[in-house]
Amino acid sequence: MKKLKNYPTKDPVLVTCGLPYASGQMHIGHLRTYIPADVFVRLLKKMRVDVTFVCGSDTHGTPVLTAAEAAGVNPKELYTKYNQHYLDVFPRLNVAFDNYGTTDDPENIARTIQIVKELQKNGYIYPKELDSPYCDNCGRSLPDRYVRGECPHCHADARGDECDQGCGRYLEPGEILNPRCAICGSPTRTITRTHYYFKLSSFEGFLKEYLQNVDGTKIARNYALGWVNEGLKDWCITRDLDWGIKYPGDESLTLYVWVDAPIHYMSSTEEWAKKIKKPDEWKKFWLPGNGRLVHFIGQDIVYHHCLFWPSMLKGSNYNLPFAIVASGMVKIRNHNFSRSRGYVVWILDDYLDKGLDPDYLRYYMVSFTGQTRDLDFSFTSFAEKTNTELVGTLGNFVYRALHFTKKHFDSVPKGTLDSSLKGEVEKAIEVITDAVNEYELKKYTDEILRIASVGNEYFQSNQPWALVKEDKAKCGEVLFNAVALVKALAIFIEPVMPGVAETIWKQLGQKGPDIHKVFLEEALEAPKAGTKIVNPEPVISKIDDDLLESLKIVIDNRIKVAEAAQKGEPVMEEKETISFEDFKKLDLRAGKILKCEKVPKKDKLLELEVDIGSEKRTIITGLADQYKPDELLGMTALFLTNLEPKKIGGIESHGMIIAIEKGDEPGRWLPVRVDGVPPGSKAA
Ligand code: 2FM
Ligand code: ZN
Repeated sequence: MKKLKNYPTKDPVLVTCGLPYASGQMHIGHLRTYIPADVFVRLLKKMRVDVTFVCGSDTHGTPVLTAAEAAGVNPKELYTKYNQHYLDVFPRLNVAFDNYGTTDDPENIARTIQIVKELQKNGYIYPKELDSPYCDNCGRSLPDRYVRGECPHCHADARGDECDQGCGRYLEPGEILNPRCAICGSPTRTITRTHYYFKLSSFEGFLKEYLQNVDGTKIARNYALGWVNEGLKDWCITRDLDWGIKYPGDESLTLYVWVDAPIHYMSSTEEWAKKIKKPDEWKKFWLPGNGRLVHFIGQDIVYHHCLFWPSMLKGSNYNLPFAIVASGMVKIRNHNFSRSRGYVVWILDDYLDKGLDPDYLRYYMVSFTGQTRDLDFSFTSFAEKTNTELVGTLGNFVYRALHFTKKHFDSVPKGTLDSSLKGEVEKAIEVITDAVNEYELKKYTDEILRIASVGNEYFQSNQPWALVKEDKAKCGEVLFNAVALVKALAIFIEPVMPGVAETIWKQLGQKGPDIHKVFLEEALEAPKAGTKIVNPEPVISKIDDDLLESLKIVIDNRIKVAEAAQKGEPVMEEKETISFEDFKKLDLRAGKILKCEKVPKKDKLLELEVDIGSEKRTIITGLADQYKPDELLGMTALFLTNLEPKKIGGIESHGMIIAIEKGDEPGRWLPVRVDGVPPGSKAA
């Protein structure tokens, strides 16, 4: 039996993405969720669906707390910085949320408390004594990421709440074997105190039925059903922590981050509703009814979204997720993401700030492999796909058709739509609709490429360059059809390449609604004869070999440096070539150290007051483990004085001392001394 299509629909659809922890920069792994979700939303808009798209930063829990401690700042300072980073970077990737909040927003705190109180009232929460690890050396209890040990299921090295290196299972507090403190490595002792548990076990029957019917990717459904069939343990929802939302009823406990994080899907919708001045609008999705909730997530958080989340919603009488779409993970050289091992590609430093177009990466992330498979990212395969598919097939057809038309006709010639080309466009609309219904967006991008190839073949076989000399009217007829296909392609590619689509739309001289508001079926309408073609230029540029080489070097070096650091070896980095103009940007000067003191409670940091000629500066340096304050006092050394100010150990540093690592003594750093030179003297 043919499955009924879920899309297009008249029901309102809310699309959400797993919230990034606001504890680090965006990396390529993040894009496996955000880009397909944004493409899906844009496709629904093209199908006239009423769709809203929300997300936000995950600010609570031990991921943010441990990162804040490592950076020597408080958790709010840390999440504010990274939240701003996400707010800046998403638009640069053409990912357009209707609202992007944080889990620390008042709306989320209020909604979390309301839901927990409702669960308490309905009898789904109970107190129980819990034995959990405590570190005497650090003087604190060790929830989640503060503890490491052995996974009780697969025996891999795991962290407190997730077997992150092995089977990927969620772990309950107290479950981990042979625990040790993740901060200082000490063995732990057990402390016992009352915590609060959510009766997940009482939702087994509900989940079995719900998961059979929930839409989305099979992989989410099947994993989750497997876990339910193994039997579910109740879920401890409180932590002995001072950061997060307090547990209503016992303020000495904090709610586990996985309680308030998904609730932000709801409160982000409330924030959006307030923003558009329709404060009740969030209810059309979240109160039981015909609103559809579609969650895009990574495969590593299926447990939380398929088991905890629907049960919490059911237990507090809200609407249930309509679909859970789980994407495969991103790997680098077949390794899982790991900052410490160098297997990471940063979106800002390694891609956007290199001047690369976000749309090429969007296309790559969606088209490289199926939604639920892992994607092994490399700049080589990225350049290959961009150069052959986007430049060679799509860009080539668009440019040839528009350039030739401009040159010989200036505007869209008269003609009638070729029925076989029209048939191809109709077929494409069908395939794209299927792709949306299957949440398999590769099928959609493959179809774009097929239509571009149809265009190239049409152009090639009709030889307009010969016709223009023999039969200009016939040539016009061919170009009319080629331009019609370019218009269809512009509409088709908008969801995945919104920027490129805008450029083509302008070259097509289109007036009326902008390309983001044009519906899919308009791909069947040829542009009006007489519409002027505007400055046709190639819309996609090749990734050239030099750029590719430099991108590969960055990643090679990162991995080499990380490997060497793990083995404690020195490493000769191969650095990218820079121009003399870049070098001239460095303001290197002699500075005399007037004061030098240890930064309290920071083992490595020294606070310097430095005379750099024009003024006195505060500069923080990490040399305290190698020099006593007296040894640096009075020294004149080389300083970089136009480095952007940065808070280090809670103090703003306005520059950097230049030091040299002794080749025969790795880790030993010597300041570059220039004693006797007046402060402010410039180096070049
Ligand atoms: O795993 C993560 O990165 C979490 N920050 C995802 C949270 S998704 C949602 F439930 F909020
Ligand atoms: Zn495991």
